[in-house]
Amino acid sequence: MKRILVTGGTGYIGSHTCVELIQAGYEVIIMDNLYNSSIAVLDRIEQIAGTKPKFYRTDLLDKEGLERIFAENEIDAVIHFAGYKAVGESVQIPMTYYENNIAGSLNLYRAMDNAGVKKLVFSSSATVYGDPESVPIREDFKTHTTNPYGSTKLMNEMILADICTSDPEWSVLLLRYFNPIGAHRSGLLGEVPNGIPNNLVPYIARVANGTLDYLRVWGNDYPTPDGTGVRDYIHVVDLAKGHIKAVEYAFGHPGCERINLGTGNGYSVLEVLHAYEKACGRELPYRIMDRRPGDIAECWADTEKAERLLGWKAQYNIDDMCEDSWRFTVNNPDGIK
Ligand code: NAD
Ligand code: UFG
Repeated sequence: MKRILVTGGTGYIGSHTCVELIQAGYEVIIMDNLYNSSIAVLDRIEQIAGTKPKFYRTDLLDKEGLERIFAENEIDAVIHFAGYKAVGESVQIPMTYYENNIAGSLNLYRAMDNAGVKKLVFSSSATVYGDPESVPIREDFKTHTTNPYGSTKLMNEMILADICTSDPEWSVLLLRYFNPIGAHRSGLLGEVPNGIPNNLVPYIARVANGTLDYLRVWGNDYPTPDGTGVRDYIHVVDLAKGHIKAVEYAFGHPGCERINLGTGNGYSVLEVLHAYEKACGRELPYRIMDRRPGDIAECWADTEKAERLLGWKAQYNIDDMCEDSWRFTVNNPDGIK
């Protein structure tokens, strides 16, 4: 049985990936400092998948702690989710973001190298494309970042590409996620944002459960069919399944690949709002506001490379994503405790 270390495994995408890994027959070890997640996630994973992963409460900045994990376990590959992810916050406290996402990640890569573990799947983001020249976005489009968070993703991509060039035994998949939303079908796992959400679907969920009054739609004068921003929303379980395919690929193919994980479809803010209204069974109030600084008009993935290399394609549609988000919201009014 292959053993996978999942950093950030109690977080939103990591927890769903742990479930899929266990269900696919992998042994899972999680390391997380619980900065943005709860220890109770481990019980939820067990409830769904039947096994509770071994857990290390360790920080990426703790070099000895990382070395210990590799010394105590024969690890075959690593999926690296741990990091800070709030775009606006990264502009306010860039040093904290570079320290956690760059210095912390380097500690991990060094510990892996020391232990001879050279297979890695990295959480990158479509943010590395900046404002793309055209859609759908292919992996060979030029990259450009506009905030420290995005820069940490691009810098990690560059560091990992250099590691692969220096040592042909390394195998790295840089997965560029589009907009992950939704929750596990069981209603046991989902996204628990800290404070008032910035992202669209977590915000709509709070309007739907009455915690927030109305959705603020950031602009309706974009060159899109209804004037509101268009994104490639992908169900978090589809995304998780993409990681299983990526790990399998890494075992057979040395080198470094950049791969988009999206559905290839774009939905506008109003289309997502209407899908959520169907899911929760009532009309949701909204107001059109000015554009949010830094937002782009539209963004969706060319998914050909993921299909060709990984044999992976997203299965869930926008209605599934909203239904699952709503079920999780109703079942967990206080988050995962
Ligand atoms: P999340 O915050 O739910 O999960 C990240 C986990 O990492 C958390 O449990 C947190 O406690 C942990 N963590 C953070 N810093 C750590 C450190 N120094 N040491 C140990 N653990 C640490 O985020 P998520 O939405 O699951 O995202 C996972 C990854 O995917 C992140 O790298 C994120 O940047 C990337 N990503 C997310 C999105 C998105 O929209 N959610 C989009 C593109 C890329
Ligand atoms: N939006 C609203 N109102 C809100 C929140 C969002 O109208 O309250 C709109 C935005 O203007 C945008 C769309 O909904 O048109 C999606 O916005 P999100 O904030 O949910 O997502 P973004 O596409 O802006 O950003 C996400 C992640 C980033 C990542 C980026 C590219 O949050 O971390 O995708 O992958 F960098």
